[in-house]
Amino acid sequence: MARILAPTDEGIRQVTAALAGGELAAFPTETVYGLGALALNPAAVRTIFEVKGRPPSNPIIVHVLGLDEAAPLVTSIPPLAQHLANAFWPGPLTLVLPRSTIVPDEVTAGGPTVALRSPAHPVARALLAALGKPVAAPSANRSSEVSPTTAAHVQTALGNRIGLILDGGPCTIGIESTVLDITGEVPVVLRPGSISREAIEAVLKPSYSFPPFPPRLGEGGAEGGPLRSPGLLERHYAPRSIAVLALPEQIEAERARLSAHGLRVGVLGVSLSWGEGLLLPADPEGYARGLYAALHELDARFDALVIEAPGSGPAWEAVLDRLRRATARGDDKPEREAQGLLPQQG
Ligand code: TXA
Ligand code: MG
Repeated sequence: MARILAPTDEGIRQVTAALAGGELAAFPTETVYGLGALALNPAAVRTIFEVKGRPPSNPIIVHVLGLDEAAPLVTSIPPLAQHLANAFWPGPLTLVLPRSTIVPDEVTAGGPTVALRSPAHPVARALLAALGKPVAAPSANRSSEVSPTTAAHVQTALGNRIGLILDGGPCTIGIESTVLDITGEVPVVLRPGSISREAIEAVLKPSYSFPPFPPRLGEGGAEGGPLRSPGLLERHYAPRSIAVLALPEQIEAERARLSAHGLRVGVLGVSLSWGEGLLLPADPEGYARGLYAALHELDARFDALVIEAPGSGPAWEAVLDRLRRATARGDDKPEREAQGLLPQQG
């Protein structure tokens, strides 16, 4: 098991020393917990891929204090990046920019760009300040599983593979950062997050006139790395249990269908209780904050989850992206089909 450290000066000192020595350590951010390593140390970054079981084609976000620390990692900081960083950094916006030659191929998956983010969490910032170096960090979970929003989630997922977890309490945002590619003619959202396309548009529109607005959602979809074939990582943020997304009027039928196979079925509802399961708030921020903790808990208690569709419209885009991926049919499709465990409709 990993040692869980309180975010005291001593805790931060120990994690800083581990990272500086080329080891991995998990730390809190405002979105989800990250699995950190020295970004400019290729061997340390390779360990991230081993520990997560992550495909080497999927690049990793580099965490920095701000634009000054980002500058050496990119060919230049264009005015657009400056503008967005002024508005949203520190915070849950990751910017994809042309990388400089000091960034290892391991970080970028061999691609010409690097993704940069300045986390807002005070513990993450204290760690970056103490270390004085950029930190490569994906979410601290096994690849394609549900991201961690508490130190306990990290312990369960990776405790036998890493030494230290810095505990900063539950993450306040709860889903991963918005990933915005600004290397092309127009900004492209590669992964929706709590900073919506409308919020980005509102900041850019007065000074920039990029058509079309709001920033396009990349056709390659979220999780889009340079070498990734589309759809490869479709099933992501996924519980181990069978999970289906259902409208309120479909919930009882889904529960009955899954129960008929002898499965323990839990319902993740919004506001209204559906019996066995959990409830999340009906607003997108509150729902996002509680989503991964709910999935971790339900996964431990049930064999199958029925997730009530929580809402629609732009404010729900990031949450719906995660729910779609959590309920996407994975490699286990033939097996589940044979057991009659897949939902009748898409
Ligand atoms: O909120 C977050 O972003 C969290 C915390 C720990 O900062 N990190 C996170 O990392 O979610 P990860 O590795 O789980 O997701 C990173 C996403 C992936 O979809 C990856 O493909 C994309 O960012 N990405 C990273 N570098 C990229 C690049 N150079 N070009 C395009 N996409 C990139
Ligand atoms: Mg992740």
